[in-house]
Amino acid sequence: MKTASKTVTDYIRTIPDFPHEGIMFRDVTTLFSDPRGFRLAIDQLLHPYVGTEIDQVVGLEARGFILGGAIAHQLSRGFVPIRKKGKLPGKTIEQSYTLEYGEAVMEVHDDALKPGQKVLLVDDLLATGGTAEAGIKLIERMGAQVIGCAFVIDLPDLGGRKRLESMGMDVHTLCS
Ligand code: PRP
Ligand code: ADE
Repeated sequence: MKTASKTVTDYIRTIPDFPHEGIMFRDVTTLFSDPRGFRLAIDQLLHPYVGTEIDQVVGLEARGFILGGAIAHQLSRGFVPIRKKGKLPGKTIEQSYTLEYGEAVMEVHDDALKPGQKVLLVDDLLATGGTAEAGIKLIERMGAQVIGCAFVIDLPDLGGRKRLESMGMDVHTLCS
């Protein structure tokens, strides 16, 4: 008898109480380390955007770099990192935000995108949407346009999808 193929969800593990007590941390390192799992995730993240005009892929630190880099390569596009404050060497613009377990500031090089460029924003997980919203604001401050936001995991109880959709964003997630 043929066994059912594994889905993206099957490769993700949950670590309780990380990084703080009460947080159920959805760990995608087990998805990334499996050749089938990683390809499945990249193919499914890309799927709705095949044939869509995308100029650049933007990834959110840190796991958005791994996914976004693979997607940019697959689309033959460039990759732009949005990083936590203090990591980028050039002139930056910054945006503060709150997330499920804290507060932080994101930065991008101020010349990383050109006005009018169409961008696909990528990260591993959508929780409150605070990180993604900061990324969208940075992209829009450079005059570029977010044509889609792609995540492996949606945590719907934390409201991120609704938050981004209320900003007019197209949100694509693989599992919740
Ligand atoms: C996680 C995740 C997203 C963000 C989502 O990153 O990778 O970037 O949280 O949360 P939000 O929707 O509530 O903003 P984290 O802040 O843990 O940083 P890291 O990727 O550098 O570990
Ligand atoms: N970022 C915010 N909440 C998270 C969670 N529960 N698991 C992994 N990353 C997260």
